[in-house]
Amino acid sequence: MTEDTTAPTAADAGHGSRNARIEVLFDAETIAERNRELVADIVKAAPEKLVVIAVLKGSFVFAADLIRSMHHAGLAPEVEFITLSSYRDARISSGHVTVLRDIETDVRGRDVLLIDDILESGRTLAFAKDLLAARGARRVMVCVLLEKPHKRAVQIEADFVGFKCPDYFVVGYGMDVSHAFRQLPFIGYIPEAEK
Ligand code: IMP
Ligand code: MG
Repeated sequence: MTEDTTAPTAADAGHGSRNARIEVLFDAETIAERNRELVADIVKAAPEKLVVIAVLKGSFVFAADLIRSMHHAGLAPEVEFITLSSYRDARISSGHVTVLRDIETDVRGRDVLLIDDILESGRTLAFAKDLLAARGARRVMVCVLLEKPHKRAVQIEADFVGFKCPDYFVVGYGMDVSHAFRQLPFIGYIPEAEK
């Protein structure tokens, strides 16, 4: 875990530092290997008429890798995107979720796989799951890159979990703090931002 992780960003990272030092939590190779395992598990769930819904923005890199891995595993999902508000620029969930940008597909009678970056309080994914079930999806499964197990506020379990995440504020691999660090190819954390 000693790659050069100094991450120059155009944006201020929100810590008064434009070149915050990021510690690697899961490196790119570890993530790629885990993604293959996740897809093998998703295949075992035998999804039918599958619609993958990536919860923007944090899951976009993970979702992009997963759907290509799905192709190699013989799955051909339709791909959709939804943007939900919950965190915005804040580090603490407001607890109130709304749809900022909706999917365009009718999910009635179809299997849905929601993909998100982190399952923390669970409010975001519980809201999304209920929404799609109410729209008549046959089955709504949830796949998250990271799970912060001690932070759950509502009862929801992900069907597929990449990694259990320590209680750090993580960035990279699509995830940000104040719009920075999404481009990092690994999952990292800012040491001084440890909670
Ligand atoms: P919750 O499960 O409704 O609390 O929402 C989890 C969402 O909060 C994730 O999808 C992220 O968008 C955001 N989030 C939580 N923890 C982190 C973190 O450590 N880094 C970046 N985003 C986070
Ligand atoms: Mg999110």
